Amino acid sequence: MRRLTLCTTFAVLTVTAGALAPIHSANAQQNAPATAETAAQSEPFKLPELGYSYDALAPIIDAKTMELHHSKHHQAFVTALNNAAKTDPSIANVPVEELLASVSGRPAAIRNNAGGHWNHTFFWQIMAPEGQRGEPSAELTSAINESFGSMDEFKKAFQAAGTSRFGSGWAWLIVGDDKKLAVVSTPNQDNPLMDVAETRGMPVLGNDVWEHAYYLTYNNRRADYLSAWWDAVNWTKVSENYAKAMEG
Ligand SMILES: [Fe+2]
Repeated sequence: MRRLTLCTTFAVLTVTAGALAPIHSANAQQNAPATAETAAQSEPFKLPELGYSYDALAPIIDAKTMELHHSKHHQAFVTALNNAAKTDPSIANVPVEELLASVSGRPAAIRNNAGGHWNHTFFWQIMAPEGQRGEPSAELTSAINESFGSMDEFKKAFQAAGTSRFGSGWAWLIVGDDKKLAVVSTPNQDNPLMDVAETRGMPVLGNDVWEHAYYLTYNNRRADYLSAWWDAVNWTKVSENYAKAMEG
């Protein structure tokens, strides 16, 4: 599997192409006819497939929420990035992670939309249908126990980060510079890969606490959504994320 490696101020990050190919796909139509090539160049950013159906996470996340979240909200970030690329074509030639690592020197539209695109692409991958969710690896479990005391205490800390985030944002489990796990939250579509992040690190797990992620089923009860969401987590993928973050 092709791997992309990038350097940031906190680490050298290596992420499998499976996670990044949908984000940085400017060369996908290299050998396609001219018309398709032109379209690919004008729309270098693509909405990734979920990898499962819109109803696959129900009743934890209902099908309508998943459909709107993916096909409308995530698509809006992709569309906005493609529009930004018409003004500044150079943004299509670097991985999204590099845009995030240098976002302080870029327009707010890049911060919001590159963040939104990366965050949601990551989010879809760390959830899975029933029967495909696996378990935390022994290494991840050990690290969680070391950093938080137990899995239950980690979940409490993560849910507290999500419920206490004022307005909209994300809760994250990250591997920091010190190779330790930490729970953080970011506002809006920021994430810990950004050079503007209060605490930087490599995301291992993240949950979207914007109302669009949960309102149809949970209404204003964000805490109930955060509590129920654990049953949708793809621990196999999260464990892979942890292993890669520790390699970097
Ligand atoms: Fe979202």
